[in-house]
Amino acid sequence: MDPTIVDTDRHPLDDPALVDRVRAELRDSGCCVLPGFVRAEQVEALRAEGRALAPLAHHQTAIVNVYNTDPDPTLPAEHPAHRPLERGNAFVARDRIPADALIQRLHADRAVQRFVAAAFGLPEVFPLADPLSGLVLNVVAPGREHPWHFDTNEFTVSLQTQAAEAGGLFQYCPGIRSPQEENLDAVTAVLDGDHRGVRTLELRPGDLQLFAGRYSLHRVSPVEGGRERHTAILAYSRRPGVVGTATRTRQLFGRVTRTHTVPAGPGRVDRLLI
Ligand SMILES: [Fe+2]
Repeated sequence: MDPTIVDTDRHPLDDPALVDRVRAELRDSGCCVLPGFVRAEQVEALRAEGRALAPLAHHQTAIVNVYNTDPDPTLPAEHPAHRPLERGNAFVARDRIPADALIQRLHADRAVQRFVAAAFGLPEVFPLADPLSGLVLNVVAPGREHPWHFDTNEFTVSLQTQAAEAGGLFQYCPGIRSPQEENLDAVTAVLDGDHRGVRTLELRPGDLQLFAGRYSLHRVSPVEGGRERHTAILAYSRRPGVVGTATRTRQLFGRVTRTHTVPAGPGRVDRLLI
């Protein structure tokens, strides 16, 4: 672990008491924030790094639904899958991020990986092998949002590098659905503006967020003011060698690499980042 980046005084990653607390929070709500994960004296460098990278983001708004599924006319008219939502976040791909960037060093850090695995109750995690989506900077510009959705990946590790002036809040509904129950009425109510079951995070630059979003509806609310919201997404997988599909990769980055065009093997997943 690099103690010059991670505030190990505040967050001793190999301390079983810390791991137990994080696991309990994830079990309870699917979400856990480690405030000030990056040392205070490094936060300005982290923010500057994100600001330098942000102009390299691929911007392409997309019409999506909460499930990130294609239109399905066989579903009943009132099904929330029919609600069109505009996803307005953009991504800087891993191959645009310098190898010595703070977020690259954190992503590759074995101690961070061991902590992430322990937090999510996994024997091991591996940095996602995808040359583009393995590590990204997620950029949400003023007036844009990442609308309500469920994740298609199992877990997400993200690090805020710059907050919006206003708005741009991470909001989530813990366990609003389960593998047994889609709870369509509750999902529809949130889309209709009923936020009684919604929790809101106050994230600051340097805060690490662990999130399991497959069953918790969540969003980044519209960014207000003049400043973009920047978040690094440190992507990991349970198995080594996991790469995104060419179709999904093109949607997110507007391009693919040779890795994406070779014949698909078992490590190919049609996943979204967040
Ligand atoms: Fe998400």
